This record gives sequence, structure tokens and C-alpha cells, in this order.
Amino acid sequence: MRPSTRPGHFLLALTLLCTLPGLGRPLTCEVCKGSGPTCSGRMKTCEAGKDACVVLVGESSTKGSQSVGTLKACVKFSDCYSGFVSTTMSRDDYMVSNAHCCQTDGCNQGSVPPPQNNRTENGRMCPSCIAPFQETCPGTRGVRCVGQETHCIYFAGNVQAGIFNTKFATRGCATESACYTKAGAEVPSASYLYFLRRADCLPAPWPPGRAE
Ligand SMILES: *[C@@H]1O[C@H](CO)[C@@H](O)[C@H](O)[C@H]1NC(C)=O
Repeated sequence: MRPSTRPGHFLLALTLLCTLPGLGRPLTCEVCKGSGPTCSGRMKTCEAGKDACVVLVGESSTKGSQSVGTLKACVKFSDCYSGFVSTTMSRDDYMVSNAHCCQTDGCNQGSVPPPQNNRTENGRMCPSCIAPFQETCPGTRGVRCVGQETHCIYFAGNVQAGIFNTKFATRGCATESACYTKAGAEVPSASYLYFLRRADCLPAPWPPGRAE
């Protein structure tokens, strides 16, 4: 008997397989990290709880030194944002990224377009600070937001770079898409993996005296 002669049974079985949690095979994703707008690596079976693949291209500046990097990894789907994110902590410290999250085997094998990097100031300002090894940071200085950045973020937690893991706290400007990130999330960037204990996100005020 061909399966197509019993479509009812076939569909029922398929529905059960898709709805019973934990019965599916674990996901496999391509994993790699490298400089430049794409990377390629081996296929890996994701550990439990990592139910999505991501491909992320980031462009960042640290104290004025710029770099482009790509990450392909297994992630938790609920922590993964598909699209453009821009954060600016100071004129010389910023990060823009474009990412694609997906949930089928090997779905992150392609590449994504590099993020646009619009450094034109948009008139908004946010408290700013970068504090490695700290749990909080004061934000007594200000930073001018650029491009589509309309929100102020205050992120703190741990950051992992290779085997090096340390606390950090930072404030600055961000696109509204950064508000998707919630406390408790494990968020990859092109170079680091962030574990966020704090992820505040508020609309950025205009400087005093400026009409909206
Ligand atoms: C860059 O950002 C500025 C400020 O938000 C905006 O006016 C301009 O249209 C943007 N340019 C592009 C190419 O998106």
C-alpha cells in the first residue's frame, strides 16, 4: 500500500511527530566564527535547548579599531533576533549586525547581507558607559545616537570570548530591535557570547531644548 492511499493516517502521524515535544531529532547547524562577511565550518548537532541555527554578520568598532566578523552557531530560538541591530556606546565604540535565525537542519549555511552602517547623528542622546569587569556602570556621560537608533539600552551580565569569561556593564544608544533582547538571554555577537542579567531598553530622549 502506498502512503498516499491513506492520507488520513499519514497526516495524523506527521501531526503527532511535529507536536510531541522532544521526539524530533536534535537540530544540526553549521558552526564557524571568522573575520569577514562569511565563514564556513563543520555541521554540529545542537545541545539540548538550542533549537535554532543562526548566521550573524557584525561590524564593530572598539576604541576606533574596526572589524567585520561572522558567526554561525546553535542558539535558543527565543533569544535569537532575525534582522538588523545597531548599538553605539561612544563615537568610537559601536556594533551593527544583521542576523538570520532558522529552525531546520543546516539552514544557516548561507550568508546574510552585511548590515548597513549609518553613522549620521539623528539628534537623540543616551547615557553612556562601558565597564568591563563591573556589574553596573554610571552613565554620567552622554552619547549621540546615529542612524535608526531610537532607544537607550543598559545591558549587564557576563561576556565570553574564547575561554575568557568576565562581567561587564554598558549603556548607550540602540535600535528598537535591541529591545527584543531580554534578561536571561544568551546573545551571540560576531566576536563574543553575552549572558545578560540586565537588559533595559527605553525610548531615547531628545536633548533638552530640541523640539520633537
Ligand atoms: C542615516 O541616518 C540619518 C539619521 O537618522 C537619516 O536621516 C538618513 O536618512 C539615514 N541614511 C540612510 C541611507 O538610511
